[in-house]
Amino acid sequence: MITARARIAGITGWPVEHSRSPRLHGFWLRRYGIDGAYIPLPLRPEDAEDGYRMLAKLGFAGCNVTAPNKEIAFRAVDIRTPAADRMGAVNTIFIGTDGQLTGDNTDGFGFVENLRHSLPGWQSVDGPAVVVGAGGAARAIVIALLDAGATEIRLVNRTLGRTEALAEHIGGPISVVPWKQRADVLAGAKLLVNTTSCGMTGKEPLDLDISALATSAVVSDIVYSPLVTPLLEKARARGNPIVQGVGMLLHQGRPGFKGWFGVDAEVDEELTAFVLGSGEV
Ligand code: ATR
Repeated sequence: MITARARIAGITGWPVEHSRSPRLHGFWLRRYGIDGAYIPLPLRPEDAEDGYRMLAKLGFAGCNVTAPNKEIAFRAVDIRTPAADRMGAVNTIFIGTDGQLTGDNTDGFGFVENLRHSLPGWQSVDGPAVVVGAGGAARAIVIALLDAGATEIRLVNRTLGRTEALAEHIGGPISVVPWKQRADVLAGAKLLVNTTSCGMTGKEPLDLDISALATSAVVSDIVYSPLVTPLLEKARARGNPIVQGVGMLLHQGRPGFKGWFGVDAEVDEELTAFVLGSGEV
């Protein structure tokens, strides 16, 4: 039940029907008894700029932004947070009472908060990290890792041109690693992250021999279906601490929820099961 004072937010993108965000925010709204709603808002990229302005006119508290609108939202907002500026993409919009749109990017926050919550005592990356992939997720994670103290990022992707382009775009201590050398550069790394879609249900597992990785190194995956990917299985079997991808999805939603509905929401097992399942709120 909502009243006429309800705060309203939603997920914009094209399409949005596969998004988990309505379940995520719907669960939190129910858990905290908030007078608010979070709804799917299918918004074609060609209409996106007008659409974001219209949400302000309609009194929305804000929205999330998913593919293919993240770069359009970046251009459409009035103010950008430093995280959005570094990413060149916006995934969360806050609408002020004056109608101003502030664009944020919470993907990196989600990744790092997931590490913090999954690994008790984890503070920062105290050495080199190997990141596999060079898409949008890799961009967010590389930036987040550099901000979290990584001394060196070893970036490896199947298509070398994309690795080079991403390293150049971000700048800083990033070494570009050819795909053939992906197993060798694991030696001495403190963290390994898969940002590709490999290992997802129905897709091939990541083709990576991890025998050169120290067993103390953390292994993390952004794929969350299955919860434990073949890479994480392999890492867990040899004793590496593992971090599942679902936490990134859940934690990236927290800043939006806090800004729109005023509560610093918690991520726990009940939430995880609900967001991944199909039961009723
Ligand atoms: P996103 O923006 O969500 O990260 P993306 O831009 O499509 O998605 O990136 C997908 C990543 O998965 C890319 O790094 C891609 O490698 P290429 O740049 O070579 O395409 C990687 N990827 C997808 N399938 C792969 C496979 N079978 N083996 C290795 N890398 C793969």
